[in-house]
Amino acid sequence: MNEPVSVQWFPGHMAKTRRLMERCLPLIDGAVEIADARIPASSRNPELDSLLAGKPRLLLLNKADMADEQANRLWLNYFEKTGTPALPVDCKTGKGLGGFARLAQRQLGHLVQKYRDRGITGRTLRLMVVGIPNVGKSSFINRMAGGARAKVADRPGVTRGNQWFAIGGGVELLDTAGVLWPKFDDPAVGERLAFTGAVRDVVVDVEALAARLLQTVGLRYGDRLCERYRLPPEALKEYDPAGLLEAIGKKRGMLLPGGVVNTERTAVAVVDDYRAGKWGRITLELPEAEPAPDPAE
Ligand code: G4P
Repeated sequence: MNEPVSVQWFPGHMAKTRRLMERCLPLIDGAVEIADARIPASSRNPELDSLLAGKPRLLLLNKADMADEQANRLWLNYFEKTGTPALPVDCKTGKGLGGFARLAQRQLGHLVQKYRDRGITGRTLRLMVVGIPNVGKSSFINRMAGGARAKVADRPGVTRGNQWFAIGGGVELLDTAGVLWPKFDDPAVGERLAFTGAVRDVVVDVEALAARLLQTVGLRYGDRLCERYRLPPEALKEYDPAGLLEAIGKKRGMLLPGGVVNTERTAVAVVDDYRAGKWGRITLELPEAEPAPDPAE
């Protein structure tokens, strides 16, 4: 149970993304990269640097409402220190997006200045929105472009299906080009992406996934699990992860005829609970060399 769950992966996706992005590059000034605040490292693709060929980037940590607030602060510090300032946001409600203009100014101000120096004012800045599947790219564009989705008509040269949206302030966003496939070289990365539901077209053993999720979350947020599933505080020490899954199934009455726990149904329920935020705000990875936050704080 100490090995990450194996996530099957199709590298063809990455090649397709690369081709699409390369086609879009001449059309854009930079990118809005959306990462998942619960897994800020695993939800980013390290190849984006080279894919963007040095163009500026605005990093959003979306679903910040589902991530541990203290961990959010650690990640913001980390990204600031490593030269990629980030903005925590909740694109479902729009919380935090008020800071987008400031981040844009910070990351794109030099471009505006460059154009101004050349005597060009009011030039539209075009940004490609990139991020892993399900991270909130559409939610972000919807929020920024308003309910009516201010489509920009007939911009040439973009792959069919891609669309530009004006968001005010002289900025346009390009939808759909950037379904950025994550890197799966590290099995722990694949596992975290499976925990959050980022990768759906992969084959995972749901019982093993749920057991590993309980094990991972139990390390830092064990009390939340005990509370949610009405388990005694010592349950996490007493049971191994598979035993914990069984205990939860029993508590929830998820039984097969004959009284045996339906572990598959229990596993699906456990994973769904986590993805729906029923265990509270949980971050699954911290910046390197950071001490774990105390969830009681
Ligand atoms: P994508 O374009 O990158 O694939 O992602 P999309 O915007 O479709 O968002 C995927 C899911 O994540 C949606 O939920 C969306 O509501 C949710 N979501 C996006 N941003 C946030 C956020 O900041 N916080 C939270 N809590 N959720 C967010 P869904 O279940 O697919 O649909 P629904 O719940 O909106 O009906």
